[in-house]
Amino acid sequence: MSRKPLIAGNWKLNHLTGPAVETAAALKGMVAGVTGTEIVICPVFTVLDAVGTAIAGSNIALGGQNCYTKESGAFTGEISPQMLADVGCTWVIIGHSERRQYFGETDALLNEKAKFARASGLKVMFCIGETLEERNGGQMNAVLERQVSKGLEGLSDADFDGLAIAYEPVWAIGTGVVASPEQAQEAHAFVRGLVKKQFSAAIADAVRIQYGGSVKPDNAKELMGKPDVDGFLVGGAALKADSFAAIVKNAL
Ligand code: 13P
Repeated sequence: MSRKPLIAGNWKLNHLTGPAVETAAALKGMVAGVTGTEIVICPVFTVLDAVGTAIAGSNIALGGQNCYTKESGAFTGEISPQMLADVGCTWVIIGHSERRQYFGETDALLNEKAKFARASGLKVMFCIGETLEERNGGQMNAVLERQVSKGLEGLSDADFDGLAIAYEPVWAIGTGVVASPEQAQEAHAFVRGLVKKQFSAAIADAVRIQYGGSVKPDNAKELMGKPDVDGFLVGGAALKADSFAAIVKNAL
């Protein structure tokens, strides 16, 4: 099965309105001719509206970086999938390692978030990945297995129509130390195997697994050349239109 590449930019806690709109508008022009790759940018909540306007009518979709498990109510500081959709998002990132690490998000909470986001009509990029300590301690497979089995527990076949998995080894995020294409392939194949065991061969075959962690224009092609690497979730290099556009184009 050929899987449509999915390349997303996670802007994290960066870009006020001015630079956000400028970046999005520039990107729109740079990737205008790209077909066959799904492109998503995930800015901070406060600029979603402005960025959405800047990319209107383009081949770039809008995503949120997080959402809660309720539609509305007394949950100060949270945002719902319905609110993200209302401002034009079609995607949301769930379970980024920074959410797990700094905000204490557990597998159980992330499972609830993923289910609720899907039930609310958003597509989900569900992040997993081991720390350096876990990898060096021989725990990588066990960690990925736990994150997949608990994080995706109870998802339906229909949920998988709008769900991608992002493998982001924590040691490669923001460090400049990218996983080798072989390391990425090994982890992605392992994760696909987990999905096959937990769900079905058809779902495992169809689900897109993105790689994230120090993706740059000059390593994108080699990583994408691996059979189980179906796209990227890009941090730092997504903050500038030219480098993100170069990643999209180099991955073709
Ligand atoms: P970097 O590309 O900056 O390493 O970040 C990756 C990431 O965390 C994307 O979600």
